[in-house]
Amino acid sequence: MNVTARVPQKRPVPAWKRGWPWQEGAAGRFSPFKAAILVLLLLPALWLLWRTAQHDLGPRPLTELILQTGTWGIRLLLVSLFVTPLRQILRHGRLALVRRMIGVAAGSYLVTHFILYTANQAFDLDKIVTEIIKANYLIIGLCALTALLLLLATSTDGMLRRLGGRRWQLLHRLVFPAAALGAWHYFLQVKADIFQPLLIIGFLAWLFGYRLWRWQRPQGATLPVWALALLGLGAALLTVAGEAAYFSWKIGAAVVPRVLEANLNVEMGVRPGIWVLLAATGVTLAAGLATIRARRS
Ligand code: HEM
Repeated sequence: MNVTARVPQKRPVPAWKRGWPWQEGAAGRFSPFKAAILVLLLLPALWLLWRTAQHDLGPRPLTELILQTGTWGIRLLLVSLFVTPLRQILRHGRLALVRRMIGVAAGSYLVTHFILYTANQAFDLDKIVTEIIKANYLIIGLCALTALLLLLATSTDGMLRRLGGRRWQLLHRLVFPAAALGAWHYFLQVKADIFQPLLIIGFLAWLFGYRLWRWQRPQGATLPVWALALLGLGAALLTVAGEAAYFSWKIGAAVVPRVLEANLNVEMGVRPGIWVLLAATGVTLAAGLATIRARRS
């Protein structure tokens, strides 16, 4: 008699049951971390829907929605670019779980931004094309959006398998020029207050510097704490220089000392360069703590 007990075989969980943004792992386990990030990513959209329902978008609701979706799109794009450096600096591998989700959310806000723009032109194709051709900032925005659409279309596991890891990674480096073009579009269209575009340009400078520096180092090596401190200082100085250059172009070179003074005197408000310095200092300190912890364990 055969007494061998039959080991029940676990059936694999079908893809549709485990591919949701709030799940992780091959079994599709519920992930509180991913679920929390998903809620945070949805909050701006829900807030805008709420304001729309309440007729609380001011005299030009569609324009307000275009501005809000553009702003949230570029902010989230920037956050998605920070995920890898922070994962490496803080040695916190789980951050990688949310990178794609944040990138897809940024892309979705920006696609909505473009759709709302076309709605504002009453979906009149002739008018849309003529306006875009006439305005440099729209052409630049469109280039950025085209790159992001390519990334969105290839962001699935299926496309990753089809393209192969190396090619997929190369293609997805397009996110850097896309973010730079997006920031440029933002900078060009802004009418008076350049605070946020400057902040974004400062953070982008840090991100580009980090990537370039890390590229020079052996595979898997982290940047030393002193290099992060230097990078933060460099990005902050570049932001201040950008602000000075902008005002000297708009008003005249005589305004430059006042810009520098405003950056040194926090009583006049904290300028973008100082915010970049503060954020980069926070990251440098966190890197120092992570290094000490890693040496102890
Ligand atoms: C990745 C691509 C893009 C990014 C990151 C982006 C981001 C932004 C941001 C941040 C703003 C300014 C919000 C503010 O001033 O508060 C803005 C404004 C605007 N964007 Fe984009 N945008 C992109 C693509 C596009 C495209 C493709 C179009 C249309 C062809 C477009 C049309 C506009 C318009 C018309 C405004 C100004 C609205 C106004 O001042 O009345 N954007 N965008």
